[in-house]
Amino acid sequence: MVNPLTPLVDGAYRFSVAPMLDCTDRHFRVLMRQISRRALLYTEMVVAQALEHSNHLDRLLDFDEIEHPISLQVGGDDPIMLAKAARLAEAWGYDEINLNVGCPSPRAQAGNFGACLMAKPDQVARCVEAMAEASALPVTVKHRLGIDDLDIDSLLMAFVDRVSIAGAKRFAVHARKAWLEGLDPKQNRTIPPLQHQRVNELKQQRPQLTIEMNGGLNTPADCLQALQICDGAMVGRAAYAHPLRWQSIDEVIYGEPPRSINASQVIRGLVPHAETHLHRGGRLWDLCRHLLQLVEGVPGARSWRRDLGIKAQKAKADLNVLHKAAQQLEDAGL
Ligand SMILES: Cc1cc2nc3c(=O)[nH]c(=O)nc-3n(C[C@H](O)[C@H](O)[C@H](O)COP(=O)(O)O)c2cc1C
Repeated sequence: MVNPLTPLVDGAYRFSVAPMLDCTDRHFRVLMRQISRRALLYTEMVVAQALEHSNHLDRLLDFDEIEHPISLQVGGDDPIMLAKAARLAEAWGYDEINLNVGCPSPRAQAGNFGACLMAKPDQVARCVEAMAEASALPVTVKHRLGIDDLDIDSLLMAFVDRVSIAGAKRFAVHARKAWLEGLDPKQNRTIPPLQHQRVNELKQQRPQLTIEMNGGLNTPADCLQALQICDGAMVGRAAYAHPLRWQSIDEVIYGEPPRSINASQVIRGLVPHAETHLHRGGRLWDLCRHLLQLVEGVPGARSWRRDLGIKAQKAKADLNVLHKAAQQLEDAGL
């Protein structure tokens, strides 16, 4: 069953929060959902092999209804395993499934998935084809401009051409190449220069394809600029580090009525989710670690963060910590 909110129908991908390991877990996604009701949210990458062998699929796949529209990102190179992942994604109610062809980590390389697959368009095509056949979900791909010496536009075009014929419905392009040898994943997000122009050219050369721009988009204005040519703007680090910076995004990108939300309202909005999480035996810190970025650039921000950090990390921390954190902000007019 395809979720009625499928982003291919309502254009949710015009703004998305990028998949980020250790960041875009369900707690952060629920936080971002307080700020944007329309953004497409990506999960962290889940390795297809982990889905195959896990006895705790709920831990890897569960999400809250309010997280829709949501894309499950998977890593892998085996069409059979990825087809199973697509079936699971559909059964779990995801709106789409996204294949990671951009991760340059040694672990991904050792497993023959992530960015190294840019050298194997046929293999990626087989994976996408298997995923598209296995479920009715849109299959999308996130990738780089190139890797190592395979970094020219003709190869990039050949990659998207091959993979789109296999059934990929959208391409999220991190606008830099990856060096698989010599740079670690963090360096691979900063040292290879951003080349937005090459993503724009890809869209111009292939107007029939749906292309999301990713990399270095730091403000809603940057996203609007990217949307002048591309179909979507995907934001990673600037969403995680400055969540409230994006509070106008529904208005700016999707034409929704203006709506303002402050840090204390975000925290209060998280209370039902926190309650369920605690009830299931989770720790308050699992959520609160993502809240530290909510308050920035105002007097008292540092002590508020310190206070929250100390209280929320206690093993028995309960909802009172959240209520007090919100109250402190309200008392300070934030
Ligand atoms: C901490 C962190 C974890 C990331 N994990 C993933 C991941 O799981 N899957 C993926 O495709 N990209 C991952 N990325 C890359 C981002 O999705 C994005 O492509 C990159 O950060 C560039 O976008 P930005 O400049 O807006 O941050 C990660 C980035 C960061 C900072």
